[in-house]
Amino acid sequence: MELLKGKKGLITGVLNDKSIAWAVARTAVNEGAGIVMTNTPVAVRLGQTKELARQLDCPLIEADATSIDDLDRLVSETMDHFGGKFDFVLHSIGTSVNIRKHHPYNDIDYSLMDKTLDISALSFHKLLQTLYKKDALNEWGSVVALTYIAADRAVSGYNDMADAKALLQSITRNFGVIYGSEKHVRINTVSQSPTATTAGSGIDGMDKMLEWADKVSPLGNASAQDCANYVCTLFSDLTRMVTMQNLYHDGGFSTTAVPPSPIG
Ligand SMILES: NC(=O)c1ccc[n+]([C@@H]2O[C@H](COP(=O)([O-])OP(=O)(O)OC[C@H]3O[C@@H](n4cnc5c(N)ncnc54)[C@H](O)[C@@H]3O)[C@@H](O)[C@H]2O)c1
Repeated sequence: MELLKGKKGLITGVLNDKSIAWAVARTAVNEGAGIVMTNTPVAVRLGQTKELARQLDCPLIEADATSIDDLDRLVSETMDHFGGKFDFVLHSIGTSVNIRKHHPYNDIDYSLMDKTLDISALSFHKLLQTLYKKDALNEWGSVVALTYIAADRAVSGYNDMADAKALLQSITRNFGVIYGSEKHVRINTVSQSPTATTAGSGIDGMDKMLEWADKVSPLGNASAQDCANYVCTLFSDLTRMVTMQNLYHDGGFSTTAVPPSPIG
């Protein structure tokens, strides 16, 4: 469809071929966009990021999204690559060490929670502020971050990630006012179905959750590719008046009356 013909964007969070960000990167390029990919040095060393960037023939810039210095360099180098401003950004970053170490929500390690909030939510503010200060995005540009329904409803097992996602969605609204009124830049979150990825698999009972959500959702679970298709419409000019929204992309799960989940 060439929905993104002539557009240029920055994609965070491609770890491997299961990553939602990988589906978005591939789809954006198929739709005619030029992209730059970024991830942490550790992810680049241990994951498939380098190989996948090579497949799309796009630059890969290492950066930790919690570091202002790294983000500053990332945005400058992305602008250098594109020869100026660009049009869209995907924030696809999240992790909770409390989840990985099996600390339940009522016995949380607060230093790990600081990390969860920094990586999964504050990184979005840091990225937006860096883009804004460097005036890196074109008018009517579009920024999308990925979230989960546990930000809005209690979902057992999602732990401190639920708080991080609630903060991510709040940042979307509050930065959306400033970036929208001053630069016509749109900021939205997409609330995706549970998806079998590396980040997703850290959650205890994820397999049961996937199965259950698939049964409860009238359309079934949305896949990573479905998510990518939706995100690319949000990067496109077809959705230019949509901003500061949390957009459910979950096969109808969020508005279906549901019994308690299998993991409590
Ligand atoms: N998988 C799901 O069920 C699901 C559902 C809804 C929303 N999401 C969200 O989708 C996004 C992508 O996750 P995914 O499921 O594709 O898993 P994933 O593990 O493939 O992606 C998570 C990415 O975050 C990156 N990351 C971690 N710390 C970082 C840091 N300090 N700086 C920069 N990058 C960092 C990782 O390297 C990885 O690439 C996350 O925000 C996640 O919460 C996932």
